[in-house]
Amino acid sequence: MTSLLAASGPSLYWYLTRSTGAMALLLLTIAIALGVIDVQRWSTPRWPRFLVDSLHRNVSLLAMLFLVLHILTSVLDSFAPIGLADTIIPFIGSYRPFWLGLGAVAFDLILAVIITSLLRQRMGFATWRAIHWLTYASWPIALLHGFGTGSDVKSTWLLLLSIGCTAVVVGAVLTRVLAGWPANLRLRSAALGGAGAFSLFLLLWLPNGPLGSEWARRSGTPSSLLPHSHLSTSGGR
Ligand code: HEM
Repeated sequence: MTSLLAASGPSLYWYLTRSTGAMALLLLTIAIALGVIDVQRWSTPRWPRFLVDSLHRNVSLLAMLFLVLHILTSVLDSFAPIGLADTIIPFIGSYRPFWLGLGAVAFDLILAVIITSLLRQRMGFATWRAIHWLTYASWPIALLHGFGTGSDVKSTWLLLLSIGCTAVVVGAVLTRVLAGWPANLRLRSAALGGAGAFSLFLLLWLPNGPLGSEWARRSGTPSSLLPHSHLSTSGGR
């Protein structure tokens, strides 16, 4: 399989990297929505709690599988110089180091969440939950990584997917924060402020950032990989 992929050139890996990244984003979004449904103890006779529980677990594991495939295909793609270590240790790579580093941070956080969830019976609930709450940080970090590193940012399909997923996650955070208000007011206000600030940041940053001109150069693509035409504005491919 590997030699078949290699023989057909790097573009096949590139397609796989993009599609597995998009799938991982979608599945992580669904995992967060299901996690919030689970923690709110919402259930109906048709959707008993154990079903929500097991859906949340399995969607999370599937997301992890797509994340691993996303990482492996980006390393195997010979277009960009990305080593396996760059995908795990943040900010050490030579290809768009900051934005690739955000991907490594998100991956490490999600890995910690998955491992501690699989070992949940062996640890205290407070520790498990504190680590589980890292998911709320890992998701926006992963989204920024996608915007900053991806070569599809200007494609309508990816923009629509990103907007849809952002709406679902912001909705899930609002639901989680507002149910039970005003208990833990400080924590809930901070979460609310964080969700609002992140949405505002995206609106202000995207037009001049990844959707603006020269993003490939500004994001830290090695100059040897930049298209040499003065007309090129993005992508790096
Ligand atoms: C094997 C993997 C996982 C298992 C077994 C698991 C299990 C659980 C369980 C049992 C809850 C409900 C906790 C409660 O009843 O208080 C929960 C909540 C939650 N999970 Fe997971 N989870 C996993 C992975 C993930 C991943 C990868 C994400 C993020 C993408 C995620 C996001 C959430 C969220 C947002 C909540 C609500 C947390 C809160 O606000 O208190 N989970 N998870």
